[in-house]
Amino acid sequence: MSRSSLIAAAAKQMRMYSARPTARDTTGHPKVTIQTIKKLYAEQKPIAMMTAYDYPTAVACDRAGIDMVLVGDSLAMVALGHDDTAQITMDEMIHHSKAVARGSRSPFIVTDLPFGSYQSDERTAVENAIRMVKEGRAEAVKLEAGRRAASKIEAIVHGAGIPVVGHIGLTPQTAVALGGFRVQGKSLASAQSLVDDALALQESGCFAMVLEAMPSLVAETITRLLRVPTIGIGAGSATSGQVLVLSDMVGLFDRFTPKFCQSFGDLGPRMAEAVEEYKKDVRKGAFPVEGVHTYAMPAAAEERWRAYVQQQFGFELGGLKHEGTVTSTVQV
Ligand code: KIV
Repeated sequence: MSRSSLIAAAAKQMRMYSARPTARDTTGHPKVTIQTIKKLYAEQKPIAMMTAYDYPTAVACDRAGIDMVLVGDSLAMVALGHDDTAQITMDEMIHHSKAVARGSRSPFIVTDLPFGSYQSDERTAVENAIRMVKEGRAEAVKLEAGRRAASKIEAIVHGAGIPVVGHIGLTPQTAVALGGFRVQGKSLASAQSLVDDALALQESGCFAMVLEAMPSLVAETITRLLRVPTIGIGAGSATSGQVLVLSDMVGLFDRFTPKFCQSFGDLGPRMAEAVEEYKKDVRKGAFPVEGVHTYAMPAAAEERWRAYVQQQFGFELGGLKHEGTVTSTVQV
């Protein structure tokens, strides 16, 4: 890019940034509430849920008009680099949920209660659900468990008035007990058990349910038996909606991509390319460009400062400047 076009682009950006855009300025999508979700379900319009982990991912979901964002504890793996999701804490989930809430104007915000925050007893489950709403600014919480969590869900929904999304099938928090990240419901007995879980969770008050990694026929059976929407991930197309892990579908998670995930972008390699270009430009002295990415003193102050440095420290300013040409071509 030539120096003059770089200056023109920078000037245009400065004008754009003179009033810093916020998430609130950027979307015309109306606020999604539980009523919206119920209406979509009643009208049989597939519900689009997407995970978000921080402000930029939340803004992307907001701009796209996603119905529900899920601050999933998958962030333990895809954003924090843990081997599984069991290690993430309440405080960490709250930290991320708050950031997502800052970027979400329209979507309905659901946040995972992490492993260990609801299993022991109803009181603990309710206290942690309240923290997620009060501190994490979630509008609903999600619990990864079948019927063994029914009494806790009932306490959260009916005792505290907090909406709950259930999550059955492959439940990564307890993947060890399931023998790893495995498809559930492949045998008759295991499919029946999933149906029992779904009915129990609906009975306990869940307003929606995530069905993860199960045969499409089992997900369809559950969807047809329930009176609340099912949101599938690796559960076929008969569910009332879909959810994917954002990092998986845009190529930002380097370790593996689940079979059920479609690639909607390849941002990981593009990000690495951009960082490489940046490193090259720094090494060559081509970034930053004086007059483009820099701040100047007013002319009179600059003159006085030069004179002061010369007199005080004995050198003339300007000797360290690197003059290079920007080579960056990457559009991100
Ligand atoms: O944590 C998460 O991202 C989830 C989705 C896989 C549904 O629970």
